[in-house]
Amino acid sequence: MTSVLTVKDLRVSVENKLILKGLNLEIRQGEVHAIMGPNGSGKSTLAYSLIGHPKYEIEGGDVLFNGESILELAPDQRARLGLFLAFQYPVAIPGLSMGSFLRRAVDATRGGGKSNGSGRPSLPIGEFRKLLNEKMELLQIDKTFTRRYLNEGFSGGEKKRAEILQMAMLEPQIAILDETDSGLDIDALRVVSNGVNALAGPQMGVLIITHYQRILNYIKPDFVHVMVAGRIVASGGADLALQLESEGYDRYVRQAAAS
Ligand SMILES: Nc1ncnc2c1ncn2[C@@H]1O[C@H](COP(=O)(O)OP(=O)(O)OP(=O)(O)O)[C@@H](O)[C@H]1O
Ligand SMILES: [Mg+2]
Repeated sequence: MTSVLTVKDLRVSVENKLILKGLNLEIRQGEVHAIMGPNGSGKSTLAYSLIGHPKYEIEGGDVLFNGESILELAPDQRARLGLFLAFQYPVAIPGLSMGSFLRRAVDATRGGGKSNGSGRPSLPIGEFRKLLNEKMELLQIDKTFTRRYLNEGFSGGEKKRAEILQMAMLEPQIAILDETDSGLDIDALRVVSNGVNALAGPQMGVLIITHYQRILNYIKPDFVHVMVAGRIVASGGADLALQLESEGYDRYVRQAAAS
C-alpha cells in the first residue's frame, strides 16, 4: 500500500497566536514536495505540528496518515507509523553517543514487530551495525562519529548530516526535512542529496522545506508550494522554485495581504 499524509485545513497556534491559517497538503510515498516561503511564514510550525510537538496547539482541521487522523497520537507513535522530521536546529544531547541514540531510535520505531508498531521486526545488533556502516558510508560520515555525543560540538553541516543519517536508519515513509540544506557546503549538499535520493522514490515521500532552489537541482521536486502567512498560496512544478528564486515572494505576499 502507498502511504499518504493528508493535511486538511490545518489551523495551529503557538503561544496563543494563530500561525497556520487553513493549510492543505497531500504527500504520497514516493513524491518529493518542496515548501518555500518567507521567514516566519509558518514552515517549521507545520513541520512540528505534523510530528506532534506539544507546544503547537491544533485549532482546527486534521492531519491524516493513510486516511486516519493522527492528531491524538504522541510523537513516538507517529514515528512508528513512518513519519520523520529532520530538525532545522538539531539539539545536542551530551552523554548520549550517536551510536546508542540511533540504536534506541531504530528499536523504538520498529516497535519490536508489535501490532502497535510498524510491524517490522527489531534489528539484531549485527544487522544494525551493518546497516549503520552502509548508511554512514553513503553519507560520508566518519566512523568515529558514532562514539561522539549526539550533536555535541558537531559543526553545522555535521549536525545536518547526522539528521539525514537518522532518517536513513529509520527508513520512514514520509520524511520532512526542515532546512537540511542550510549550512551545508557545496560537496556536503551533494552528499546529503544523494543520501535523500537513495531513499526517496517508491519507499519514501519527502517534504523539503528550503530557502534555496539549489538543493532542488539535486533532489528533483514533483511539486513546489509557496507558503505565505500560514497558508499555501501557490503550487506548481520544479520551475516554480526557479521563478521564486528570480522574482522573490513579493507578488505572493501582496496577494496574501490583500485577501
Ligand atoms: N515556540 C514558539 N514560541 C513563540 N512563537 C513561535 C514559536 N514557534 C513559532 N513561533 C512564531 O510563529 C511564526 C512562524 O514561525 P516558523 O518557525 O514556523 O516560521 P518559518 O517559516 O519556519 O521561518 P524560517 O524561514 O525563518 O525558518 C513566527 O512568527 C514565530 O515567531
Ligand atoms: Mg523554519
